[in-house]
Amino acid sequence: MTKNNFSYDIKNICCIGAGYVGGPSMAVIADKCPDINVIVVDTNQERISQWNKNNLDELPIYERGLDEIVKRVRNKNLFFSSDVEGAIRNADMIFISVNTPIKTKGIGAGQASNLHWVEVCARQINELAEEHTIVVEKSTLPVRTAQTIKNILSSNISNSEKKQHRSFSILSNPEFLSEGNAIDDLENPDRVLIGGDDLKAIKTLKNIYESWVPTKKIICTNLWSSELSKLVSNAFLAQRISSINTVSAICEASGAQINEVSKAIGSDSRIGKKFLNAGPGFGGSCFKKDILNLVYLCKHFGLYEVAEFWEQVVKINNWQQNRIFQIIFNKLFGNVIGKKITILGFSFKSNTNDTRESPAIEICRNLLFEGANLTINDPKVSKKQISKDLLNYEPSNKNTIPEFGCWTYEQSIIKSIQGSDAVVVLTEWEEYKNLNWQKISLNMRKPAWVFDTRLIINKEEVISSGLNFWGLGDGT
Ligand code: NAD
Ligand code: UGA
Repeated sequence: MTKNNFSYDIKNICCIGAGYVGGPSMAVIADKCPDINVIVVDTNQERISQWNKNNLDELPIYERGLDEIVKRVRNKNLFFSSDVEGAIRNADMIFISVNTPIKTKGIGAGQASNLHWVEVCARQINELAEEHTIVVEKSTLPVRTAQTIKNILSSNISNSEKKQHRSFSILSNPEFLSEGNAIDDLENPDRVLIGGDDLKAIKTLKNIYESWVPTKKIICTNLWSSELSKLVSNAFLAQRISSINTVSAICEASGAQINEVSKAIGSDSRIGKKFLNAGPGFGGSCFKKDILNLVYLCKHFGLYEVAEFWEQVVKINNWQQNRIFQIIFNKLFGNVIGKKITILGFSFKSNTNDTRESPAIEICRNLLFEGANLTINDPKVSKKQISKDLLNYEPSNKNTIPEFGCWTYEQSIIKSIQGSDAVVVLTEWEEYKNLNWQKISLNMRKPAWVFDTRLIINKEEVISSGLNFWGLGDGT
């Protein structure tokens, strides 16, 4: 596969994992590099079928602009398949883009990453790859995972004759896309990070990105700096959110207003404006997991004070979610049994159907545990997904014991609020920003409350329509 002395020739890319990262990132590579065949494989047959659906509204992931790219390149140079083995055999470059969740039991439970799926991929690649293959870590991984992959890839395989004719280069190329903005992040990234020790392999991956990313935005480092930078990026971002969320509580206690404080501090160019929106706590599949992974790593290196520092970011996040539940509970006279509470927004942020670690899950569970009767609305999250997330709270039995509330799903915002004692805005969807509160108020049971945890509701309008209002970080 050698193209010249400086880089390898890449004709076939395989990506293992057709999830939130694998799907969109490979769609963009296929779109920008028409001469490369990209095949995205997954053991989850249902997910692959969804990626192959004719109706692009039924793709497994909702991202603005993704459907148009898939329409352009699918079955031309982008393919989705469950034939993992065939795709590995045929690939010049393999991206590992599988899930790396926190371990739930055993050593490191609650903090360390579960690398089972990464290891399965490495073993499969070792068994099946032919000639020279560049293996790229796309998943977010603990520092020095590349060494584990190298060890697996240099171990014996059943067909020892075949082994003589092939070799591997390992690169780290973490993904920085944020959900809801994935396509723009992939097409116009702040930077692309490539870590490795094989200059020819680095140059090869760099060439691919240079099809659309300016060279100066491509940063090349050693493997460990690349792996660590991904964890630290997420830790820094999450730290900003926890910081501003602690300030939201100080605002409420002191008479200050969080939006004003965010603007004032964010105007300092050293601090910057982004990631200073207070909210119900960060969600998403990665912030918590990556910080806890960093904490685990620090402990492993005996850096206990550093571990404690980062762990506090997650503790504050849990505290913020619980604090919001407590406020709702207290404002409703410390009793929500049988009260109808409308939840506006269930995804962890707007413009995505992803609910992983969404603050809505914890807040809804707490309200249900207190006996509330929830009506949940979200423009993109399905009833099935909410049901999975709330698990034991499926309203299968209409005679649910009052102490353990019940919930329903309602697609219409207006219908979902009818007869409610309270509305809680948990996701900043565009749809919720300009509601007609004068009209809505007529159909709420008084005294009624509007709780805005995202600061997107017009407070004056709510109050003038005869409703009580609580806004996060609003001390006035
Ligand atoms: P995901 O759960 O959506 O997708 C992972 C997919 O891998 C699943 O569909 C699973 O079936 C598949 N898979 C697992 N093992 C497999 C195997 N051996 N063979 C074939 N398929 C296999 O996960 P995701 O959100 O795409 O995240 C993937 C990685 O990227 C994680 O490490 C995550 O931390 C990181 N990351 C995620 C985001 C994000 O926005 N979601 C952003 C940056 C980085
Ligand atoms: C985040 C990072 O932004 C990406 O760079 C990274 O690639 C990704 O994690 C990952 O590794 O998975 P994502 O979780 O998709 O992306 O979304 P963010 O926009 O970062 O939001 C995360 C959470 O923080 C959301 O719940 C959001 O509502 C919250 N948030 C964000 C705030 O509460 N305030 C803010 O100012 C910004």
